[in-house]
Amino acid sequence: MEAQSVALQGYIHGALSSLQTRKTDVSAKFPKPFSSETRCSFQSICSSTKRALRCRSSVEKIEYKGVFDTEEDNPKSKVSFKKLAVFVSGGGSNFRSIYEATLNGSVHGDIVALVTNKHDCGGAEYARGKGIPVILFPPRKGAEEVFSADDLVTALRSYKVDFVLLAGYLKLIPTELIKAYQKAILNIHPSLLPAFGGKGYYGMKVHRAVIASGARYSGPTVHYVDEEYDTGRILAQRVVAVLADDTAEKLAARVLDEEHKLYVEVCSALCDERIIWREDGVPLIQSKHDPSHYL
Ligand code: GRF
Repeated sequence: MEAQSVALQGYIHGALSSLQTRKTDVSAKFPKPFSSETRCSFQSICSSTKRALRCRSSVEKIEYKGVFDTEEDNPKSKVSFKKLAVFVSGGGSNFRSIYEATLNGSVHGDIVALVTNKHDCGGAEYARGKGIPVILFPPRKGAEEVFSADDLVTALRSYKVDFVLLAGYLKLIPTELIKAYQKAILNIHPSLLPAFGGKGYYGMKVHRAVIASGARYSGPTVHYVDEEYDTGRILAQRVVAVLADDTAEKLAARVLDEEHKLYVEVCSALCDERIIWREDGVPLIQSKHDPSHYL
């Protein structure tokens, strides 16, 4: 099975490069699967700005995808296709919703690397299943190979990463990365910052604190990342009402629903280069439909 998996990966990558070169849909021309029990299904997804090919293997339940910029086909598009790295420590539901948005074309970018401090977390498993490279950072204590913050920057540069998206990554971001990616690292936090943020405010602790405070509104915040926890410039927020009989779990679920929508909208703006910095340093999102309007 191992050898077949490697062969399958090689086959799929070859097919994806062929598609990239020819810029045509060749999904119908692929030869039959490797063995009688292995089936690959190919799904071609086209939009005005990109073309993706998603390949699924029935036996191993793995999926690979290649996304190709079709700007040559679309001379009106002046904005380059962006490469994203997502950082996670847990289930990675925000990562998944952004990944889906890159596939369906609502985000003009592609996730080229996933960074995690927990090798076997749900987000990392999901990334492996999609053929997205997973980087362990920081490495396990006592690991033989040294992998420093500078090495992480080098690795992200090698993937030509334009933007870093933190989505439930619980480690502080090293200064080296902040310096290398200025105004290019975002985080999503499950409260309306600056309230209920900072060291120790993560997961259910945030929602319990919101309910205990008597605050009537909560909701996610997307903000730029600096050297501290949750103190960077606020880019976008969404309001979620706190109900009289709320529990932390119920509130967390409603906030998470909004997170998925908000982070995708922000990623879309980021990749479309619709973020404008006001003179006083506040970042604003320009509306896609009306450039004179800011969100
Ligand atoms: C989200 O609530 C996010 O706001 C916080 O961590 C959680 C990550 O959830 N930073 P998931 O892993 O994306 O499901």
